[in-house]
Amino acid sequence: MNEADPQKYHVITFGCQMNSHDSERISGMLEQRGMVPAADQDDADVVVFNTCTIREKPDQKLYTQLDQAKGSKRRRGGNQVIAVGGCLVEAQRDNLLAQFPWVDVAFGPGRIRDLGNFLELADGEGASVGQTPGDGEGFYGIADERSFASELPTRRDRPHQAWVQISMGCNMKCSYCIVPAVRGREVSRPFAEIVTEVERLAADGAREVTLLGQNVNSYGNHLPRDGSPRTFAELLRAVDAIDGIDRIRYTSPHPAHMREDVIAAMAECSSVMPQLHLPLQAGSNRVLKAMRRTYTRERFVDLAAKIRASIPDIAFSTDIIVGFPGETEAEFLETVEVCREVQFDGAFTFIYSSRTGTEAAALTADFIPPAEQQRRLEHLVDVVRAIATERHQRHVGSVQPVLVEGAARKPANRLRGRSPHNVKVIFEGDAPDGAIVPVRIVHATSETLLGRQLTDAGELVAAPASSRSVVTFDTIST
Ligand code: 5AD
Ligand code: SF4
Repeated sequence: MNEADPQKYHVITFGCQMNSHDSERISGMLEQRGMVPAADQDDADVVVFNTCTIREKPDQKLYTQLDQAKGSKRRRGGNQVIAVGGCLVEAQRDNLLAQFPWVDVAFGPGRIRDLGNFLELADGEGASVGQTPGDGEGFYGIADERSFASELPTRRDRPHQAWVQISMGCNMKCSYCIVPAVRGREVSRPFAEIVTEVERLAADGAREVTLLGQNVNSYGNHLPRDGSPRTFAELLRAVDAIDGIDRIRYTSPHPAHMREDVIAAMAECSSVMPQLHLPLQAGSNRVLKAMRRTYTRERFVDLAAKIRASIPDIAFSTDIIVGFPGETEAEFLETVEVCREVQFDGAFTFIYSSRTGTEAAALTADFIPPAEQQRRLEHLVDVVRAIATERHQRHVGSVQPVLVEGAARKPANRLRGRSPHNVKVIFEGDAPDGAIVPVRIVHATSETLLGRQLTDAGELVAAPASSRSVVTFDTIST
């Protein structure tokens, strides 16, 4: 290998924002070792699949792609390293390498750093990974062998927006959820380290940060009580105080850990956006108990009301699972009722998917038939959409400060950005990426606002934009 011909990598990401952020670290690490992005999978010396296993669908998708990867490796005469990382790897650690023998290395979500070490093993030269090393090696573990991926450099696609990992793992025991089994017990990143990272991001041009964790608002519970700041509320205030950071978001909090100090910090910190993803999961107390969510319907509704009293214009989004084992029609309808009561601005809705190793996977006798699960999902989606459409009408006629993300995919001559409430805004304008500009909202649907950029003097701006790629958001389990 010579310097003019660097090795190339290609990362394929499944799942939540934590995984997308982990992929930024994987890319950053590979670039630090001298690699450059490949044009596509066939062009890559190293292909990394960063996997998700929260539901069955992503598992199936990965298996199809791994079968295809066998072909891409063959087309390159075997001269391609195939690495598989992420949650599925930890869940399938006993059979993944045997089932897909063309996979060279597997690494769990806590072992991202070891991918770099493995590639170095290829010939002791960092980026020189032209030869397929070994017969397959695995780096797993959900205990002390984990390290924060945040110790690695990142490669960010969006210079003005950044994810910041504040904790790893989850100590909750939600009966449907595989996350604790694959990401391990919760560990909080040191407070000062997070603040330093955000300061560095601000200096580097980031205007918006999203704090990430499986259960962000239990952040700090296990940090030493030595008098220095360590709670999630204190972290929000510290990040709010950093110059250059205009927007702070976080995901996902657990409703049971949503303390008064966090609500007060949200209300008082001008950079913390009036938006909260608050996962409901179900509206029936029996189902919530079977899910081990540790709150009741009433507590959730009260919490939402309390938050709204402090931050009147807040936009709530949520996650909901339908068809949990044993869920009756009446219990499902309670979920629908809570949606009407809380008035979510948006919801991610999921059909319950049994995950081997979780507590609920044993409830086979009570599994709901797929057709019935599907029917409930469709009904819920209709309700959630109608509520979101209605909620978003309050923005029509208002002027929203929009953080510009780039050109809209459709229509081609519009820009795309996000409102403070984290709603996608498509608008006519001429602002550069990363600017926060006033946009007059003229139309609202369940997921999108349409508008026209104003000048600082309040006049309309209209100009075509250049085309760029589109970024989508997903949620983190909680
Ligand atoms: N089946 C369906 N949905 C699930 N989620 C987590 N585990 C499962 C499962 N086994 C959902 C939860 C979580 C979101 C990220 O995924 O709603 O908040
Ligand atoms: Fe933890 Fe969230 Fe999974 Fe519950 S749903 S176990 S809080 S990751």
